[in-house]
Amino acid sequence: MSDREFLKFFSGLIGALAALTVILIIVANVIGDKAKKAEVATADAKAVAERIKPVGELTVASANPVMNALIPAANAAGADAGKKTYDTACAACHGAGVAGAPKLGDKADWGARLAQGNDTLYTHAIKGFQGKKGFMPAKGGNAALKDDDVKAAVDFMVSKAK
Ligand code: HEC
Repeated sequence: MSDREFLKFFSGLIGALAALTVILIIVANVIGDKAKKAEVATADAKAVAERIKPVGELTVASANPVMNALIPAANAAGADAGKKTYDTACAACHGAGVAGAPKLGDKADWGARLAQGNDTLYTHAIKGFQGKKGFMPAKGGNAALKDDDVKAAVDFMVSKAK
């Protein structure tokens, strides 16, 4: 191979490699772009869902029997929320009657308590209460609970004690 021939071959090779590099860069860009777009799309969807979610979730649990009769569907939602709060924040003690807690559905233990009226039960559940059998911590020890959640949980427990 003469020097001239070699030079021709070598510059051809360099040219081909340069072209391949350009092609690979383009391909990488296209692939990267697609992945990025997909990421942006999911992030956008999340942000939108966050922005349009309802300001407050409505829980309806009324102490008024007429209202309860009028809004059975809404009331069922309230009872659901009450059970949820009960399950997460109250069942630890009230499920099995731990530490003197009146057990869910134990009519004998709940009878005298029901007689105090719902307002007293709400106050005892929200503010805490030292009784003869034990100590009921404020909101079951879960300060993050809203008063209405605690009331709904009391309603749920009361409904099981009747
Ligand atoms: C750490 C245990 C514990 C947890 C958790 C707990 N309770 Fe209690 N609760 C008690 C005890 C103990 C009593 C009984 C006190 C007594 O009568 O001596 C009680 C009593 C009550 C009473 C009856 C009050 C009265 O006046 O007789 C209500 C209502 C009540 N709890 C609601 C709740 C609700 C609602 C939750 C969840 C948000 C909850 N409790 C979580 C221990 C607990």
